[in-house]
Amino acid sequence: MKIAIGSDHAGVVLKAEITKILEELSYEVINCGTDSLESVDYPDIAEKVAKEVIDYNILGIIICGTGIGISIAANKIPGIRAALCQDIYTARLAREHNNANIVSIGARITGPGLATEIVKTFIKTDFLEGRHQRRVEKIKEIELNWKRGN
Ligand code: RB5
Repeated sequence: MKIAIGSDHAGVVLKAEITKILEELSYEVINCGTDSLESVDYPDIAEKVAKEVIDYNILGIIICGTGIGISIAANKIPGIRAALCQDIYTARLAREHNNANIVSIGARITGPGLATEIVKTFIKTDFLEGRHQRRVEKIKEIELNWKRGN
C-alpha cells in the first residue's frame, strides 16, 4: 500500500524515522521531501503531499515544526482533510469521524515515539461513515460552493 510523506527542514529527522517504520510495515512510501536541513517553505511540501494523496486516493503524513503551518496549507487544497494530531486519541477520531486523509505532526512538539504511534493509529483506523458522512459531505459543500456573502 502507498503512503505519501513530506516535511519541511524542521521535520526531516522525524520524517526519516517514520519512513523507516512504514517501510518495515511494507508500505510503499512516496517521499515528497525535503531531505536536507536547509530551510524550505512548508506550503510547498504540503502541496506535494496533497497532490499524491488526491492522485492516488491514499493517506499522507506532513510534518513541520509545530504541524500547524503545513496543515493549514494542505487544507487549502480541495479534497484534503488534514488533521494536526498530538495524541493517539485524536489520531483515531480524525479517521473515524472526520475521514482525515492527512495526519500532520509537529516535530518540535511531539517526540518520535509518540509521533510513530500517532501515525500507526491514523493509518490503521477506518472512517466510521454513518452520521459522520453527512458532516464530511458538508465540508465538501463548503469547499465547492462557499462564496463571500453566503
Ligand atoms: C519553520 O521554522 C517553522 O515555522 C515551521 O516548521 C512550522 O512550525 C510552521 O508552522
